[in-house]
Amino acid sequence: MNIVRVDSYEEMSKAGARYIIDKIKANPKMTLGLATGSTPKGTYQYIIEDHKQNGTSYQQISTFNLDEYIGLSAEDPNSYHFYMKDLLFNHIDIPLNHTHIPNGDTVDKEEECVRYEVKVKEASIDLQILGIGANGHIGFNEPGTSFHSKTHVVALAESTREANARFFPSIDDVPKHAITMGIASIMASKEILLLVSGDAKSEALERLLSDQLPSEDFPASILKTHPRVTIIADNEALMSTGITR
Ligand code: F6R
Repeated sequence: MNIVRVDSYEEMSKAGARYIIDKIKANPKMTLGLATGSTPKGTYQYIIEDHKQNGTSYQQISTFNLDEYIGLSAEDPNSYHFYMKDLLFNHIDIPLNHTHIPNGDTVDKEEECVRYEVKVKEASIDLQILGIGANGHIGFNEPGTSFHSKTHVVALAESTREANARFFPSIDDVPKHAITMGIASIMASKEILLLVSGDAKSEALERLLSDQLPSEDFPASILKTHPRVTIIADNEALMSTGITR
């Protein structure tokens, strides 16, 4: 895993955007895997800024998001459908029919998982953007998820619901289930960019960078076996790792 150390969230966001934009320029038809949450928000802002200033085009880009809550409609401000439109898609020239997010508002969830997995596989993700949970989750693959998992329905860990409660009126409003790409689906991406910021992530990052063998009780540890992973992490996140430059 290639580690890029930066000073701050702002620098992580700039470096993340630069990394993605350079890949898009090299391959304007690429398939991007996208994440939500707090971590990539700044990266998306810089992508929008670059699109407005330099005209980088997303007309031929396709995107696949990692996950979506079950029970929230695409119009719900807390859904990841809403998040992606609000924070990225509405501000660049990507055709909305090139963007894909699991449908968490469907009656047959299992069928939706199969449909999404087939689409992801057909598309073949060139670059997957990831954040990491404090418990090591990637996507919504919580500790204990099989490394062989494909797109599936998950029960969110209480710690994940608590961490995400900041976006909802109260913890009771945080959905209990989500659809997520599986760990095997994520690992099939040709390349992975993991963004990590803040001291809340420092223990997780320390564990990821330690020489512990990959283990299903820490989902992100599988990334050690992927041939092309870049981690852009800020000082606070790298605090407990002993990496000083
Ligand atoms: C989001 C996702 C999650 C987040 C993780 C970190 O699509 O799949 O794995 O990347 O929960 O979230 P933040 O960035 O809010 O700390």
